[in-house]
Amino acid sequence: MMIAAIRHRKSVRKFQETPVEEEKLMEILEAARLAPSGNNKQPWYFIVVKNENVKQDVAIATNNQMWIASAPVVIVAIADICARSENYTGMYVDEETSGFDLKRVLRDTTIAITQILLEVDNQGLGACWCGAFTQKTIRPVLNIPDDKFVLAVIPVGYPAEEPKAKPRKDLNSILRYETW
Ligand SMILES: Cc1cc2nc3c(=O)[nH]c(=O)nc-3n(C[C@H](O)[C@H](O)[C@H](O)COP(=O)(O)O)c2cc1C
Repeated sequence: MMIAAIRHRKSVRKFQETPVEEEKLMEILEAARLAPSGNNKQPWYFIVVKNENVKQDVAIATNNQMWIASAPVVIVAIADICARSENYTGMYVDEETSGFDLKRVLRDTTIAITQILLEVDNQGLGACWCGAFTQKTIRPVLNIPDDKFVLAVIPVGYPAEEPKAKPRKDLNSILRYETW
């Protein structure tokens, strides 16, 4: 049941050294590839990082969360506004950029990342969406162009902890019927 998988997923921040099998990694990225997106624009890219030095630099750029580098694989998820219009090519986008098209590609890439997190769990692995970076700090580390927006740094590996479920608002408090 899907709901069981959704319940089981939790952010994992401690990893075993065991490498992630290539087949599992490809299934995880396949889950992202199949995500729905507005107008089917698929405005996303993913960088797979395994190199120790690069992982360290990514961890430093992500608010010095060095535990990120202890994961055997780090997936970096990137939203691409150019998927909406080629006119955006070369545009500088960052946290201050407004406009519906950036919102759209961020929205779509979020769905792909969610599918990554769920497939990670389904493969018996663990991951955590890490978002504590700025475009200015993270992009140069991976040579990412200014017209791409880094949305998530996702360390992936076999869990070395069993995190407890974090509390959620109860359904009644977030639910309305028929109208606001
Ligand atoms: C957009 C976003 C950014 C996040 N950034 C970080 C982060 O930088 N470091 C971290 O340890 N966890 C980060 N998290 C994980 C959240 O803290 C976690 O999802 C939340 O506490 C709920 O716990 P759960 O994922 O185990 O259900 C982030 C989650 C999201 C969705």
